[in-house]
Amino acid sequence: MTPPVPPRQPTGAPWESSDFLRACRREPVSRTPVWFMRQAGRYMPEYRAIKERASFLEMCRTPDLAVEVTLQPVRALGVDAAILFSDILITAEAMGIRVEFAPGPQIPEPVRSRADVEALRVPDPAAAVPFVLEAVRRLRAELPPEVPLIGFSGAPWTLANYVVEGGGSKEFVRMKQLCYEDPETAELLLDKLAATNAAYLAAQIAAGAQAVQIFDTWAGILDPDDYARWALPYVQRMVRAVKASAPDAPVIYFARDSGCALPLLDRSGADVLSIDWRIPLDRARETFGHGLALQGNLDPVALFAPWDELRRRADLVLERAGRMPGHIFNLGHGILVGTPVDSVRRLVEYVHERTAR
Ligand code: CP3
Repeated sequence: MTPPVPPRQPTGAPWESSDFLRACRREPVSRTPVWFMRQAGRYMPEYRAIKERASFLEMCRTPDLAVEVTLQPVRALGVDAAILFSDILITAEAMGIRVEFAPGPQIPEPVRSRADVEALRVPDPAAAVPFVLEAVRRLRAELPPEVPLIGFSGAPWTLANYVVEGGGSKEFVRMKQLCYEDPETAELLLDKLAATNAAYLAAQIAAGAQAVQIFDTWAGILDPDDYARWALPYVQRMVRAVKASAPDAPVIYFARDSGCALPLLDRSGADVLSIDWRIPLDRARETFGHGLALQGNLDPVALFAPWDELRRRADLVLERAGRMPGHIFNLGHGILVGTPVDSVRRLVEYVHERTAR
């Protein structure tokens, strides 16, 4: 049973009345808010300029650089929210796992045995990742006051796949293998990941983030039974822990390619579900009703289309989202390398103009 949530105490902070936070809470907005997963990154010349003098991990670990790169898309695109520049694997490193990027994550000594899992720490975020919390504090001070800051972490299932596999993969055979062969060790790993990342999200909110997103990029490799067994309970645990420490901060849950488990997603406890492009938003709305907000869900590849086609597809997303409160415009996954910046900027402008109330 979820304990009753105390009524929200408005703080009077300028970001409280932002369209982004209002949409998360399913309140009326002045226009549909827009932000993009991976809105900072290699598709932007400003990002590439910084990347020339610092590695990706240095950027994550240096608050000056993380702050600058977080601000770049806010300045260049006019999006309604900033997302902290970091990576979901930063907490794996804090648990004692060596992580490298080339550019995707690589774990030279993957977590495979009971002893490997037992050796993992559940770290105190303030001690283990002070640079992240410092970046969050500085961002809250430097962002325009009406622009909310989104913190994030990986979901336990997705993180477990990277650390057990040793990096990215198409099939992620090894984590499923661990679940079949030694379910107790798999559970202990997922427990530790849930505890670490819940404390991490709570610390980001305490340091100045207004909302948090949990990325479950690999939810889609599970069938509904396995999703209910190996992914959902640990997300639920994280959401409950975050809500216990910060009842007012909206939690967004992104489960990529999760069409087959769609009816289970609202059990996550999140306030907002981020829907990938394979599931039409009106179908998601039919499934979930109006008890939560929806985020999404343009195909990231649509940004490579000529403007008329891109606009047609953006219109379709807006039409399927309907006019009821509770829609945040986003992509169905992250912005891809090579995306034309002008198309992204024009899309933000268009969604704003088209939805002005
Ligand atoms: O959204 C944002 O702008 C914030 C930054 C952000 C990054 N990673 C920066 C990044 C966020 C939210 C993430 C989350 C993340 N990291 C996820 C979940 C979201 C998703 O995309 O599915 C995952 C699975 C990871 C793991 C990861 N990190 C991968 C697979 C890669 C390689 C991707 C690529 O672009 O080649 C990374 C590296 C990474 N994380 C980059 C960036 C900007 C590229 C690093 C570089 O500049 O060389």
